[in-house]
Parts: sequence; C-alpha cells; structure tokens
Amino acid sequence: MSIPNETGANQQWGGRFAEGPSAIMQAINASIGFDAKMWRQDIRGSLAHAAMLAHVGIISAEDEAAIRQGLAEIAREIESGRFEWSEALEDVHMNIEARLTERIGEAGKRLHTARSRNDQVATDFRLWVRDAMDGLAAQQMDLIRVLVRRAEEHAATIMPGYTHLQPAQPTTFGHHLLAYAEMLWRDRGRMLDARARLNECPLGAAAMCGTGFPIDRHMTARALGFDRPTANSLDSVGSRDFAMEFLAACAICATHLSRLAEEIVIWTNPAFGFVKLPDNLTTGSSIMPQKRNPDAAELVRGKTGRITGALVGLLTVVKGLAMTYAKDLQEDKEGVFDAAESLTLCLAATAAMVRDMTPDAARMRAAAGAGFSTATDLADWLVRELRLPFRDAHHVTGRLVARAESLGVDLAGLSLAEMQAVEPRITAAVFEVLTPEASVASRRSHGGTAPENVRAACAAWKERLA
Ligand code: ARG
Repeated sequence: MSIPNETGANQQWGGRFAEGPSAIMQAINASIGFDAKMWRQDIRGSLAHAAMLAHVGIISAEDEAAIRQGLAEIAREIESGRFEWSEALEDVHMNIEARLTERIGEAGKRLHTARSRNDQVATDFRLWVRDAMDGLAAQQMDLIRVLVRRAEEHAATIMPGYTHLQPAQPTTFGHHLLAYAEMLWRDRGRMLDARARLNECPLGAAAMCGTGFPIDRHMTARALGFDRPTANSLDSVGSRDFAMEFLAACAICATHLSRLAEEIVIWTNPAFGFVKLPDNLTTGSSIMPQKRNPDAAELVRGKTGRITGALVGLLTVVKGLAMTYAKDLQEDKEGVFDAAESLTLCLAATAAMVRDMTPDAARMRAAAGAGFSTATDLADWLVRELRLPFRDAHHVTGRLVARAESLGVDLAGLSLAEMQAVEPRITAAVFEVLTPEASVASRRSHGGTAPENVRAACAAWKERLA
C-alpha cells in the first residue's frame, strides 16, 4: 500500500506537511494495533454514510455503488486475513479508507465528505460497545437461568448462613443462589439502561460543529439501529460517558461474580467441603499430588481488578479534557475491549461452575447446625411463648449459649433442667424450634429463606425469564 506521499507525509492530510512523522510520533499516535477490532463497525458506518450522501445528492449513485462494492471486498479481505494493516495510516478508519481509494479511485476519496474521524470513531465505538452490551446481557441471562435451576434443585438444602463469615442463621443453598440471581438481574438492568442512553448516533457531527452539507442524520441513525441522532455536535465527538457507563455496569457485575467466586473458593476448601467442582473446572499442582485448585473461581475474582481498573482508567483519561475531541480520547478503547472480553470469560466460567458444582448436603447441614445458629429461633420462641420483650429474650438466650458452650454442647444438647435454671418458664416445646430445619421452615416472611418461599421465588423467576 503506498501511503506516504513524495515527502513521506500522510496522504490523507499530507498537503500541509513538508515531511512525515518521526518514528516516535508514529508509534505513540497509531491506534491500529487495537482499533482494527472495530473494522466491522467502521465499514457499517461508512456504508450508512455513503448511502445517505447519495440519497441527498452529495455524491452520485454510481459513486455510492462503487463504495458499497469496494467496502464489501475490503470486508472479505479483512475476514480472510489478507488485509494489510498499516501503522503509517494510524487507525482503522484511515486504513480502510486508503484501501478503498486504492481499489476504487476517486469515489473512495469522496466518502469522507461531511464526516470527520471524530464523529466516525464515536459512531464506531458506540456500535462496538452496543454489541458488547447485547452479548453480555444475554450471558447474564444465561447465568441467571442456571442459578434458578440449581436453586430449585436445592430449595430445601440447608446450609449455614453467615454474617462476618461467622455462623449466623441456617439458610438454604437455593436461597443463597437466588441472592445472586437478584444481583445479576440488576446487573443486566444496568447494562440495558446504559444501552438505552448510548443508543444515539453521533455520525454527522463531523469534526465538532456539524456540516454545511445537507446531510440527513436521521437516515444514518436509523440505518445503524440508533434511536435518533445525538442532539449536540460538540457532545457527540467529545463525550465518552456511554463507555464509562458500560464499564461501570461491567465493574459492578464483575464485583458480584467475584463475591460468588470467593464463596466457591471457600466452599471448595476441604475444611468447609460444601461444594465440589468437577475435574474439568479445577487444576492440579505440579508438585502437590493431592491438590485440586479452584483456579477458575480465583481468576473470576482476579479479573475483577482489571475490569474495575478500566473504569477508573477511562474516568481518569476524560476528567481533564476541555471540549471537544482530544487525542487522549483514543485511550478510551483498550480498557473497554479488555473489560468486555474479561467479563465475557467471567460470566461463562461462573455459569459453568454453578451448573456443574456438586453441593455436599450432609456437610452443609452439619455446619448449619453448629455455632448456635438457631439462637435467634430460641430468642423468638421466648418472645412468642413467654411474652418476653425481645431484649430480655436476647439476654436469656445469650446466657443459654454461654452455658451450652461451657458444657461443649449445642443448644439442643442442653437439658430442660439446664434451660430452666436460666429461665424457669421454658418448656420442652422449645426444642422444636432448635433444629436448622425448623429454623428455615419458619422464615416465611416475604423474601425469607423458607423452602416454600424459595420454590415460589423459583416459579416467579421462571415466569420472568420465559
Ligand atoms: N484514532 C482516533 C481515535 O481513536 C480517531 C479520531 C482521530 N481524530 C483526530 N482528530 N485526530 O480517537
């Protein structure tokens, strides 16, 4: 490809330049190393732009046909790996346009009428982020489906519930998984909210102030699947909050996945032994033959760092920029690409782990009964049956826990006489509320952990997901 002109300056704007860029100028300036990823969006945008230019009579129908055909051929070249990307041409936009002109001549040079790389890149990038949002929202949906399926299976599988990672109250594995389904549903909502705000088309804002040509921005917006053209040309080329919102939605989702990943790490530790991951989702150690490491979960947890880093990175890139475009904005892409790819992996790996993990109901049940986890049930019984004010019931229960602890038994292991030594009105009926089964079954308040609630929640989820 013959890029530099006789002086070595860039063909696309070389007229004003006596010489080409220095090696370092070219190296720091080029974005082709990463923005080639947007070639489909770039061609799609150019097709829409050319069709509009022809429609309003800015270019001829013949030129538009030549552009359309040339871009289709370029798409095939890129797809088949035959396209030669050039760093001298800086970015995806100029690589494709230069190749187009090389192929079709004059008509190719007319494509950039009433357009600038500033609105072009803003359009391409929105299209790319929109596709990523759609893909991620679909994956979030898949994960929610898996969570609900496993929750239904384990609606009555008792496990310890923790606060401070200390035994708190018995819950069920199903209820626990549905907590994540709720989080993921909101994550998906955030993605879709951001998508709705993103979906305006900057194409036609040109360099920054619009254009004197009689373009039809509604036509290009429609052709590219946008709801409408953006309203302000300066905002169109100078703003990247659509990407910030995308990254924020990614970072929050990744944070949720990271918490679940951390729990999987804990659950699969032999000291807990609540859950087993299949061989194909764990790794061994090159030195310790007994090892079975939850690397997938650890990497989901670990990748959250770079996703959140991308959000902070972009916020920082944009924070000091005067309106409108500055080359700093070229630094908006790599973090977004990386975050999207990382979150895609995290969602897929999490869905695989949730789908294929095997909970050990016996170990979870045993742990759920330990740690005086039904102490709240005992206090509630004192309130309900003996009409004790809750604070007094709390105090009595605290004394019973201390007594049980010193005897080395759990609450149900105390004799009635031991109990009555602390509160004489306690009767044998109290023992009925001290099992984890009774505890979870009693918690039927809206959103509570009772198996019948979990089953009803699963049914509601299935309706929502249908
Ligand atoms: N590669 C550039 C970017 O990603 C395209 C826009 C260049 N605009 C300019 N005025 N130099 O931001």
